[in-house]
Amino acid sequence: MDLLVSPCSQLLTLLGNPSPRRGSCQGELSIIPDGAVLIEDETIKAIGPAKELEGRVAGTRPNRISAEGCVVMPGFVDSHSHPIFARSRHDEYELIIRGTRYQEIAESGGGILSSVRAVRETSKSRLLELSRTRLARFLEHGTTALEVKSGYGLDLENEIKLLEVVQDLQKATPLELIPTFLGAHEIPEEYRSRKRQYIELVTEQMIPVIAGRHLAEFCDCFVEPSIFSLEETEQVCISARSQGLKIRLHADQLSRSGAARLGVRLKAVSVDHLEQILPEDIQVLSKSATIATLLPGSVFHLGLNHYAPARALIDAGVPVALATDFNPGSSPTLNMQMILSIACAQMRMTPAEAIVATTINGAHALCRANRIGSLEPGKQADLCIMDVEDYRQIPYFFGMNHCKMTLKKGRIVYQRG
Ligand code: NIG
Ligand code: FE
Repeated sequence: MDLLVSPCSQLLTLLGNPSPRRGSCQGELSIIPDGAVLIEDETIKAIGPAKELEGRVAGTRPNRISAEGCVVMPGFVDSHSHPIFARSRHDEYELIIRGTRYQEIAESGGGILSSVRAVRETSKSRLLELSRTRLARFLEHGTTALEVKSGYGLDLENEIKLLEVVQDLQKATPLELIPTFLGAHEIPEEYRSRKRQYIELVTEQMIPVIAGRHLAEFCDCFVEPSIFSLEETEQVCISARSQGLKIRLHADQLSRSGAARLGVRLKAVSVDHLEQILPEDIQVLSKSATIATLLPGSVFHLGLNHYAPARALIDAGVPVALATDFNPGSSPTLNMQMILSIACAQMRMTPAEAIVATTINGAHALCRANRIGSLEPGKQADLCIMDVEDYRQIPYFFGMNHCKMTLKKGRIVYQRG
C-alpha cells in the first residue's frame, strides 16, 4: 500500500544536477512549499504540492503521515564516523579543557591508542551491544546512512573484529552502514619503533583479508607527518585500490602536509577535515572530482578556533560535505543538526549550503547519490520530519533535536514520544 506524507510546510527535495553540488549550486535545496511525498514500498513515487498529490491519490486509501507545520527533508547522510569504540574519553576531555593539547595526549600514549587498548580488551558481543545503542541515537536525530570506520583495533584480529561488528550491526539496524577500513589510523604500541613493519602488515595482510572478505568498501588513512607520511599513505592507498577498495583520507587536520593534494592524485572520493589546507591545494581540489568533507565537530569539541575554510572552498567551486566525525576523542556528537549549527555560525556556510553538505553531497562522498541524499521519484524513501516551519530554524535553534520522525526505505524507524 502507498504511503502519503502530507502536508508539510516545506519539502526540501534537493532535486537538481546529478553531480556533487559545488559553487552556487552548493545552496540549492529545491523547496516545495506546502509539499507532499508519495511513497510506494521502499521508493519515492512522487513529490509535489500537497494539493496535487492529494488529487492524485483521491479514491485510493493510502496510509498517511501528517507533517503539518514541519519541514520534510532527506535523511542525513553522515559520511565520516568512528562509532565502534569501547569507552568514552571524558578524562582526556577534562585535560584538554585544562590546556593539554590533543597531540600531547596522543604522544603520551593516550588518544587513539587508549581507544585501541580498550577495544582489544572488549569482546565482540560487548562492542555490538554498545554500538547498537549508539546507532539508535543516529536514527533519532534524522540520520539514515552512516559511514563507519574501523581503526581502534590496529592488528589483524581486532580490525576484523570491528568490521565484523559493523556487519552484524547491519543485520540488526535499519540505519544503512558503509564500512571503511582505517588500519592506518595510528601506529600501534607494539610497532612504535618499527613503523615500516606495521605498514607491511596493513598492506600485505590486513588489506587483502579485509577486501577479500568484503568487510570494507573504503580505505582511509590518518595522513599526518608524525603518524603516516605522504609516501606511507600512498603505499597503503595503492595496495587498497589494487584490492578494490575506494579511497578517502583524513587530510590536513593538524598540520599542513599537502594531504588534500595527494588525495586528488590518488583519486580519493573524499578528503576529510582540511582545517589546515593550503590555499593552492584548494585550487587543485576545485579541478578534481574529490569532495571536501568538513568535520567542524572536532574543532568545536577540542576548543580550537581554526575551522576549515568552508567559504574559500565553496567559492573556489569545491563540493563540500559535512559529517559528525563521531568518535570518543575529538568529536563525541552524533547529531548532524548540531553540525549544521557549527557550520553556519563558525564557518559561515548558509543554512541551505550546510543542508546540501549533510545530504546529497554526503551521499556523493559515499558513492550513493543515485539512491539516497535527495527526495526524487525513483530514489529510496529515506527522510526525516523536523519539528520546525522553516529549514533555517534547524541550525538556528541549536543543540536540540528537531527530528520528530525518521523513515528508512519507506518505513518508520523512529518516532518521537
Ligand atoms: O577524525 N584524526 C583522527 N581520527 C579522529 C580522532 C580519533 C580519536 O581521537 O579517537 C578524527 O578526529
Ligand atoms: Fe575522523
